[in-house]
Amino acid sequence: MADLLIGQVLSFAADPFIEGPDAAQIWARGGVLVEAGRISTVGDAATLAAANPAATRHDYGTALISAGFIDAHMHYPQTAIIASWGKRLIDWLNTYTFPEEARFADPAYAAEIAGRALDTALAHGTTSLCSFATIHPASVDAFFTAAEARQMRVLAGKTCMDRNAPDTLRDTAQSAYDDSRALLQRWHGQGRAAYVITPRFAPTSTPEQLAALGALWAEHPDCLMQTHLSEQPDEIAWVKALFPQSRDYLDVYESHGLLGPNALYGHAIHLTGRERGRLREVGAAVAHCPTSNTFIGSGLFDLSGLTTAGLRVGLATDTGGGSSFSMLRTMAAAYEVAQLRHATLHPAQLIWLATAGSARALGLADQIGTLAPGMEADLVVLDLASTPAIAQRSARADDLWQALFPTIMMGDDRAIRATWVNGRLAHSQRES
Ligand code: GUN
Ligand code: ZN
Repeated sequence: MADLLIGQVLSFAADPFIEGPDAAQIWARGGVLVEAGRISTVGDAATLAAANPAATRHDYGTALISAGFIDAHMHYPQTAIIASWGKRLIDWLNTYTFPEEARFADPAYAAEIAGRALDTALAHGTTSLCSFATIHPASVDAFFTAAEARQMRVLAGKTCMDRNAPDTLRDTAQSAYDDSRALLQRWHGQGRAAYVITPRFAPTSTPEQLAALGALWAEHPDCLMQTHLSEQPDEIAWVKALFPQSRDYLDVYESHGLLGPNALYGHAIHLTGRERGRLREVGAAVAHCPTSNTFIGSGLFDLSGLTTAGLRVGLATDTGGGSSFSMLRTMAAAYEVAQLRHATLHPAQLIWLATAGSARALGLADQIGTLAPGMEADLVVLDLASTPAIAQRSARADDLWQALFPTIMMGDDRAIRATWVNGRLAHSQRES
């Protein structure tokens, strides 16, 4: 059975950071034909409807149909502590994050929060996420099991820590290797799941643990490796004290086998020139987490500098360091942070970052992130007039970008008319 989604359709044939807004493909009255979990055609709605009379039609009127949002870096176990007040990175971790993550020793709690995190993501139009779990292997099983039930393409890994964390949240170099390996073998490539080797960050791993995870990655180089890099000045100073031999923060990872083209570093704000050059040379990716970077007071990510240098950058909520589950709100924060750095992001660049850009950073650009024949059918349908304030502004728009920008800046889950995952309706706005 085929489904034909009709509305304004937006996708990208190229990178708008290189080509500008012309990289976008827009069908004012377009259609996306979905069959067996994949997109079979994208084009003019009337033509598609005539050619596919048996397809079930879903006419979304003037709503915007885009590839679903992809959150390139988040912590699903921090769902329940999002928006915790008043701390910076290290004391935020100690005060809020570690006590909450300790609760994931209970698999039932992990299952409850995994389901909640994924349902919240779907309600915000997010169809794929790359998540940290906790040190507990069952927290990884809970996440992948919940994602499997929702048919979502997700990536995740056991967060490894063998020092500078509470006793209840510490593994060892050997157990981190063994547990990660067992989870990787259980989940990597299982349906839509991908395992990600996940040392939390340099301060919470001994050199032995970093090296053990580097060795595991060398055995499974097709896996992603995710961690944190250069988020706050105190953290960078701490890394320098813990690893005096290393040239800089990135060098800590590199010297333990944790740098490569399949590496994805969260934050990457306070990079040295050498680190930027090395990331680029190797072809590693970074995740821009703008609501987190302002909320925890980390700093202003240099998006223009890094994209101009050719780095792959994904967009991410960093839940619960980030202050919103919404990739719309995250795009707005990216826009504001760029403004503070005297750079202006076009709406095409913002929505590209949240879809194709994140897909590329996760090495999944040939599967998700754009609407094109053969791609997996993960889509979001955006109401561009979801509140009176947004509606009155978008009514003045002369083109799609002007119509979309108020939703990027002021929109939230009320703008998510529907979310489709793997060719099925996964979330739909309640009619009031
Ligand atoms: N650095 C190490 N762990 C974390 C985390 O959980 N959140 C953020 N934002 N930064 C981190
Ligand atoms: Zn993070």
